[in-house]
Amino acid sequence: MKKNDKVLIFDTTLRDGEQAPGASMNQREKLEVAQALERMGVDIIEAGFPVISKGDFDSVNIVAKKIRNSTIAGLARSVKKDIDAAAEALKPAKRGRIHVFLATSKIHIEHKLKKSPDEIVQMAVDAVKYARNFCDDVEFSPEDASRSEKQFLYRVLEQVIKAGARTVNIPDTVGYAVPEQYGKLIFDIKNNVPNINKAIISVHCHDDLGMSVANSLAAVKNGARQVECTINGIGERAGNASMEEIVMALRTRQDYFGCSTGIKTAEICRTSRLVSKYTGFAVAPNKAIVGGNAFRHESGIHQDGVLKEPTTYEIMRPEDVGFTGLGLVLGKHSGRAALKSRLKELGIELNDQELVKAFERFKDLSDKKKEVFDEDLIAIVEAEVQEVKETWALESLVVTSGTKIKPKVEIKLKSAGKVHVKSATGDGPIDACYMAVDAITELKGKLINYGIQSVTQGQDAQGEVRVSVNFDGNKVTGIGASTDVIEASVKAYLNAVNKACAGKKNKGAAKSVDFGLQL
Ligand code: KIV
Ligand code: ZN
Repeated sequence: MKKNDKVLIFDTTLRDGEQAPGASMNQREKLEVAQALERMGVDIIEAGFPVISKGDFDSVNIVAKKIRNSTIAGLARSVKKDIDAAAEALKPAKRGRIHVFLATSKIHIEHKLKKSPDEIVQMAVDAVKYARNFCDDVEFSPEDASRSEKQFLYRVLEQVIKAGARTVNIPDTVGYAVPEQYGKLIFDIKNNVPNINKAIISVHCHDDLGMSVANSLAAVKNGARQVECTINGIGERAGNASMEEIVMALRTRQDYFGCSTGIKTAEICRTSRLVSKYTGFAVAPNKAIVGGNAFRHESGIHQDGVLKEPTTYEIMRPEDVGFTGLGLVLGKHSGRAALKSRLKELGIELNDQELVKAFERFKDLSDKKKEVFDEDLIAIVEAEVQEVKETWALESLVVTSGTKIKPKVEIKLKSAGKVHVKSATGDGPIDACYMAVDAITELKGKLINYGIQSVTQGQDAQGEVRVSVNFDGNKVTGIGASTDVIEASVKAYLNAVNKACAGKKNKGAAKSVDFGLQL
């Protein structure tokens, strides 16, 4: 019989992923992402770093309360106050894990921690022992492990396992490793840490040199049985290893790796879209597994091959990852029941009120656009239906713009049944629109990120705009879709305005961890 070891998936989208500049999510969004991760079958969800701020603490706490099928992890430095915060936040969890870390590389020990190697070993052991008072499931990460001296790393690992760590994680914190070397590191750990069979070896790779997935897989090939990763590969700097790529590589090349995961892969695209929506980070069209072009064949030769036999050019089936493709779903004459049933097939359940709104938008769209695809439906539902209370709604928009004139707009917004009008000029038509919106709402938003993507192909395709806006130190994301890109831009901005009005506070600038401790 072929070997098929289980590889545990430890998702850190809500912790390391959220550390990506500009990616912060509010509590409701984090909980929704956690629920999506649970639905996918993620083994461990790292929900945050509880000591860092009240917002982080509360998010870990609520995720610990609501999620029942995945283990919930909270991160802590190797100091009591962090471990206390993690233990407290994880109290309601059915299965909780405290994840403690401490750097072990010479660079970090000498320059950042200013401790002796013996002191580091003692701190790591003390932290694991202390965490074990609260929880049986303790993970230890020697930060910057891939640049640590091997003999010292073996020593730390042996001691933390002795102290009670059940998982030892080997982070490539700065994305420095290369696959062969990193795989060998895991192999050497297995052969040089005497009690290693008492712990699961985990890996945690960053993508600074674009090798995080390859490094993680090389580690699995050499015995790692937990992979830490994020949806869409988001994370600190260049990001973390992408979960969808790891999972699909293990599944597609099971013949080579002899391992599998418990992930329900058909949930991948849906979860990817959710994370993209809440972080405001668009997924590149050519991104493996979840990019819009990942299953599209442009060349005639390829299309012909796929029509004759899909495996000629497809190593995975689009439906295996929940890729909806360009299924032509509904036309101008389709009714509400047809819309409801297609949305259900796409995994979107709406209440009656949301369905009325979705249907209105669908009719509106099918007047402007000959063909309405699955992607169009997902875009309108995500952007305009399942969102927060609409304090401000776009009533109408008139734009005058050209090569030799200063862009000018007149915007009408509706709020509580009353229509408000303002005109504004700006550097470009979108800038002018945002000025006019700010003038009406009296909220001053600072645009941090703006991205636009075509939802489908062709000249009549909808544009989907994602924005991140800073309102008084709170980062809020917004999404809007329309066949008119200026209208989509205004809708995205208004979506962010409405979230800000709903008081959906983000932690953003509120990150208040005491890094004076320098751990
Ligand atoms: O990259 C890293 O080293 C980390 C640790 C806290 C696991 O994120
Ligand atoms: Zn990391």
